[in-house]
Amino acid sequence: MTQYRSKPVNDKGMVEWSSEEDLIWRDLVSRQLHLVEQRACKEYLAGLKLLDLPLDRAPQIVDINRVLKQATGWQVEPVPALINFDRFFALLADKKFPVATFLRSREEFDYLQEPDFFHEIFGHCAMLTNPEFAEFTQMYGILGRNASDKQRVYLARLYWFTVEFGLVKEGDETKIYGGGILSSPGETLYALDDPQAMRVDFDIHTVLRTPYRIDIMQPEYFVLDGIEHLYKLSKMDLMFHVKQAMSAGLLPPLFEPKEVNHA
Ligand SMILES: [Fe+2]
Repeated sequence: MTQYRSKPVNDKGMVEWSSEEDLIWRDLVSRQLHLVEQRACKEYLAGLKLLDLPLDRAPQIVDINRVLKQATGWQVEPVPALINFDRFFALLADKKFPVATFLRSREEFDYLQEPDFFHEIFGHCAMLTNPEFAEFTQMYGILGRNASDKQRVYLARLYWFTVEFGLVKEGDETKIYGGGILSSPGETLYALDDPQAMRVDFDIHTVLRTPYRIDIMQPEYFVLDGIEHLYKLSKMDLMFHVKQAMSAGLLPPLFEPKEVNHA
């Protein structure tokens, strides 16, 4: 169960962030900004420039939406801390990116499992200014909206290994576009630099069959040829691949099973 509650958003799209929350935002951004400058893909950095996020206070949705609207027609949609899959897919299909309006506490400054406002805004919104990424994300929502529960579990892996934890080639280098990485200082370094992490070429069939855990650094990342690769994926018959992956079944996990405490 979550200890967090989204803060109310008024009809002007404004949240009354407290001064402590403004300081938490400031400290999160100042820590992360210099890390992503060298490691995020050019599309992310261009989006971050457009968003022009404040450094000394938590941003307001209304300001982000103004930029997103002009760039790709997307909008950020404030939601309670948790929403179900039906709502999640329906929002994406409608070019609305769900964002819970709470910030992590100081106690969970380095790591929290729930996606907070920093993760959603700093991690994801810059990429939503990119038309190819935006198209892919909308198509993912449309597919998910119409998929069965079992198909959704497979589709979720596609989202996980792209929107959340995706890497992309840029010339001779590998860069980050996944928001789960870009909002985490530890994983920003680990995903690109740690020899333990595997970085393999993106293959849709493998991605759909690769299990993941949400509470560890990823053992494996999938690297796109370029962000336009996402656009090409959005034009493919992805549900055909989902059905193929379902009949092939999951690949063996590269991590230990999560320990369950029965005490
Ligand atoms: Fe996310």
